[in-house]
Amino acid sequence: MNNLEIKRANRMMLMLFSEWKGHGNEGRPLKIEWNIMHMFTSSQLAKLYALKKGLDPEICALIAVLHDIAVVEGKFRENHDGLATEYVKGAIKRYNEGGRYKLEPITEKETETILSAVVVHGYKSDYSDNPYAEMIKDVDSLDAYLHGLDTQKDRHIRVSGFLEEIGIDNE
Ligand SMILES: [Fe+2]
Repeated sequence: MNNLEIKRANRMMLMLFSEWKGHGNEGRPLKIEWNIMHMFTSSQLAKLYALKKGLDPEICALIAVLHDIAVVEGKFRENHDGLATEYVKGAIKRYNEGGRYKLEPITEKETETILSAVVVHGYKSDYSDNPYAEMIKDVDSLDAYLHGLDTQKDRHIRVSGFLEEIGIDNE
């Protein structure tokens, strides 16, 4: 078993954490504390999911870290996935231009993959052949479930589907 290559995702997470931790809660659709907690926990789940499904753990973690960035930085709740492009690109730019220190930059191709998943992650009832989009929809649902939140309908289907896949019968 090799160590996971996920240093860039960790660095991105630390960069965003240090930027976000001083934010107040005024005018926010969700508390910043929740967003930060969700960023950390969903990124860990994304890595586990990647190992199970044979996806790239670092790309999955980066998608999880960035998926709700428009909620935090744009204070959007409605359509926060579709509105995420400029915020994702902005974070990747800050990362590439300094946040990464000596780590490799995030490439344009990787940025495309990240965006392809982030911008559709709200559509939990839609299924596609993009494994990274399916990953973040499943992981977002699973993280909400594991935090004890209401996970009915489309989220429930995704949670129970993944739990069953890893041998957990939770009905
Ligand atoms: Fe989320």
